[in-house]
Amino acid sequence: MTDPAQNLETYLVGGAVRDQIMGFEVKDRDWVVVGATAKKMLKLGFKQVGKNFPVFLHPSTGEEYALARAERKTAKGYHGFEFDSHCQITLQQDLQRRDLTINAMAMDRQGNLIDPFGGQRDIKEKIIRHVSDAFKEDPVRVLRVARFAARYAGKGYRVAADTQAMMVDMVDNGEVDALVAERVWQEMHASLQEKHCAVFFRELRNCGALEKILPEIDALFGVPQTEKYHPEIDTGIHILMSLDAADRLTDNPINLFAVLVHDLGKALTPVSELPSHRGHEKRGLKPIKQLCERLNVPSQYRSFALKVCEFHLHCHRIGQLKATTVMRLLEKFDGFRKPELIDGFALCCLADKQGRSGHEQENHDQMNLLLEYHRAALAVDGGKVANQVRQQANAGNNTDAKITGAKIKAAIRKQRIAAIAKVIANGKLQTALRPRLS
Ligand code: CTP
Repeated sequence: MTDPAQNLETYLVGGAVRDQIMGFEVKDRDWVVVGATAKKMLKLGFKQVGKNFPVFLHPSTGEEYALARAERKTAKGYHGFEFDSHCQITLQQDLQRRDLTINAMAMDRQGNLIDPFGGQRDIKEKIIRHVSDAFKEDPVRVLRVARFAARYAGKGYRVAADTQAMMVDMVDNGEVDALVAERVWQEMHASLQEKHCAVFFRELRNCGALEKILPEIDALFGVPQTEKYHPEIDTGIHILMSLDAADRLTDNPINLFAVLVHDLGKALTPVSELPSHRGHEKRGLKPIKQLCERLNVPSQYRSFALKVCEFHLHCHRIGQLKATTVMRLLEKFDGFRKPELIDGFALCCLADKQGRSGHEQENHDQMNLLLEYHRAALAVDGGKVANQVRQQANAGNNTDAKITGAKIKAAIRKQRIAAIAKVIANGKLQTALRPRLS
C-alpha cells in the first residue's frame, strides 16, 4: 500500500524536531500539511480527529497530521472546515503562531531543517523564548514555558527576559485566569515528572501566575520557620528545596505532589505563633482538599497527600513512638495491603528532611527505621496465625465465622505489634551496647 502522505506536502514539526536537534529520543511525531484541504485529507483515507480542529490521523501510522493554520485558537462556534482556508497558509505562517522558538522548527521529508525563528540558535544558547506576539493567544503557554524550564534546567536553560515579561503581562491582564482546571493539572502533573520540577513552580512564581493558579502554595512564600530547624527560614523555599530533594529520590508524581503540599498548613499559622508551626499537620488538610477540588486532582494523589501532611511529623519522631502508635501509622496508610505507600511516605519525609539549607545530605535513619518496622510487621505470617485461631475455635466448638474472623484479625494485629516492639527493643539494646562517644 502506498503512503497517502506521499501525495501531500508534509513537514515534521514541534517536539519531534526539537528533540531530534537536542539529541533526545523522539516520542511522538506530529506533521503539518501545507496546501491541502480537509476534503483532500479525508479522500486520501486520513481520519478526522476533532470536529473543530483541522487535525487528522494517518490511516496506518496513527500519527497526527494538522493542516497548516494561522490561527491557533479556535473561535467558539467555529464549525470545522466548511470555509476551509487552510490551503492558503504557508509553513512559515503556521510556525509563527507556535509557542517557542525551539518548538517552531520544521523538517521536510528529505531531512532539511526549516528554522525561520532561530530555534537552533536558542538551543545553542540554551534559551526558552517565545516566537511572536501570538504567544499571548493561549494562556496554557505560561504553564508550558515553566514546564520546559523544569525539563531543561539541568542543562542550564533559562527563560528569555522578554518572554518572562510577556508572561507577567498575561498574568496582569487576567489572561491566565482563563486557564481551565484540567489544563493546569495536566501541565502540573507533567512537570512533576520532569527532572527539576521545583523550577516549574519557581517560574510560575516569577511571573506572578503561582498566586493565581496555586494560591495555597504561593502563600507559603514569606512565611518564616524556626531558623534552628530550617536555616532557609522561608517556607516556600523549603518546599522548593524539598521538591529538589524528592527529585533526587524518585520520579513518582504521587510522591512529588505530596511533598509539594505537605506543609500548606504553615501558611495558616496565626502570626502570633510564628515562626513556630504547632499543629500545621492538621491545619494543612483543608487547603490540600481545596486545591485538589479546584484542580480535580485524582483521588489517589489527594488521599496520599492528605496522609503525608497529617503524619509527616510521626516519621520524623519515629524513634520515640510506641509500637501501637507505629502500627496505627502503618494502618492509616493501608500499609499491609499497599506496602508501596509506606515506601512513598518514608521517601516524602526524607525529602522534607533534606529540603533544608545545609541538610541536603541528611541521613536516612528515620526512613530506615520506619521501613524496618514495616518489614517486621509484614513478616508476620497471617495464614499461620489464622490457622492457630481456627484450631482454637474448633477445639472450643465455636463455629461462628464472624467471631472467628474478628479473632483472626485481632491476633494478626497483636503479632504485628509484637514484631514492631521487638525491633524497638533490639534498637534499645544496640544503643545501650554502643560505646559512648565523648
Ligand atoms: N504548541 C503551541 N502552543 C501550545 C501547545 C502546542 O504552539 N499551547 C505547538 C508547539 O509547536 C509544540 C507542538 O504544538 O511543539 C506540539 O505540542 P505538544 O505535542 O503538546 O508538545 P510538544 O512540544 O511536542 O512537547 P512534549 O515533549 O511535552 O510532548
